[in-house]
Formats: sequence, C-alpha cells, structure tokens
Amino acid sequence: MNPSRISIVVDSRYGSTLSLAKAIAEGAASEQAEVRLLRVALSEPEFSVDTERADFIAAQAEYRDLKQACASDLEWANGIIWGSPTRYGLMSTPLRAFIDEIAPLWRQGALIGKVGAAFTSTGGMHSGNEMTLLNLLLPFLQHGMLLAGLPHSVPELVHTRSGGSPYGASAVTGFDGSLGVDAGELAIARALGARVARIAGQIVPEPSSVDLAAGPSH
Ligand SMILES: Cc1cc2nc3c(=O)[nH]c(=O)nc-3n(C[C@H](O)[C@H](O)[C@H](O)COP(=O)(O)O)c2cc1C
Repeated sequence: MNPSRISIVVDSRYGSTLSLAKAIAEGAASEQAEVRLLRVALSEPEFSVDTERADFIAAQAEYRDLKQACASDLEWANGIIWGSPTRYGLMSTPLRAFIDEIAPLWRQGALIGKVGAAFTSTGGMHSGNEMTLLNLLLPFLQHGMLLAGLPHSVPELVHTRSGGSPYGASAVTGFDGSLGVDAGELAIARALGARVARIAGQIVPEPSSVDLAAGPSH
C-alpha cells in the first residue's frame, strides 16, 4: 500500500463544516496519511451571514489561519475530500468558485483515478443535506475520479438521527446553529477520512492524459 496524501478543502462560516473537516483529517491521519487541511478564498464582503454571531467570530479566527487551497494541493493528493455549508440546497459559492478555478486540471486529466469524497453542514435535516453531498460528488466524476462514501459497517451511520449518510459526512446544526456537531456526526466524519486514506493508498495511478481533440469530429 502506498502512503496516502489527503487534501481536505473546506469552506465554513460558523465552524460546523470546519469541525467536520478536522474530524476527517484526524481519521485520515489515523491511517498514517499525510494530510493537508485547506480553506478556499475568503469572500469579501461576507454576504448573507450574521457576522456578529459569536460562533462566526470564533470560527473565522481559526478558518482564516488555514492555508488557501490551490490546484497543486489536488495534484499532490491521491485522495481529495471537499465540503461546504449548504446554501439554498447547494454547495457554497466560495467552494464552487474554487472548483471552477481548477478547470485546467480537468483539461490535463490530472485528477483521473484519485479518490474523492464530500461533507456538508446544514441547518435543517431535510433542507438540502443529502442533495448537497450528491452535488459535491459530481465534479469528481467529471474529473475521472473514484467516489468514496460510507458503508453501514460504520455503527454511527446505522444509528444517526442527525447528520452522516452513505453519501458522505454531514452535520445538522439547527437553523440558529445551536445544535452544533454531535459525537456521532464527528465519528462518521473520522470514518470517512480513514476510509478515503485506506482506499487512496491502494489505487494504482491510471494513465492520465486527455486529448480534447481526439476522436471523431461531428
Ligand atoms: C445564505 C445561506 C443559505 C443557507 N441555506 C440553507 C439551506 O438551504 N438548507 C439548510 O438546511 N441550511 C441552510 N443554511 C444554513 C447553513 O447551511 C448551516 O447553518 C450550516 O450548518 C453552516 O455551516 P458552517 O457552520 O460551516 O458555516 C443557509 C445559511 C446561509 C447563510
């Protein structure tokens, strides 16, 4: 088994998605993976958020200290795990902007054969949690990557009444954020990090050049 190199790319305003990211990092490190925990570009101004909230201020102090992700962090990794808060049932704009920016990697086929997984945090239980996870996974398929979710052999996944699903790690924080991230959600996040690290270490890299001009023209 090759040593795994895991890049975790997170967007988070109030810290819940960041808590999941840190648990994922712990899980990957428990499998001896090298881990990079990275943020996306800061959005200025901070739109549509309550920047006076204590959890926002505390989370941003930590979040802004993370290194900003760039394309080379994804090239370096053999496993990529990205996540953002749910925004209107979708991933957040800052993470989406990062994903758009790495389009040159798609043209080069640079991520073909790497392992991808996702995580999110939502206010509500049924207001975009799983949809956001599924949408976060789609760009990995466009890049020719292999998807990792979570099996029901993870005990917390069988018992959860909040976040965590076969599609990835997640939290349900309540619409005022007061529920935070519970122990089961963190355990599921750790399990995801560990699983991606184990799988990524076993994948033999595929040939990865892309010739956009190849094939019959129409
Ligand atoms: C602009 C905006 C849109 C949101 N849309 C949704 C949504 O569609 N569904 C939902 O459950 N929560 C929604 N939320 C709540 C966040 O997803 C939730 O508070 C999340 O846990 C925040 O993660 P964070 O602590 O990492 O910032 C929204 C929050 C904001 C600011």
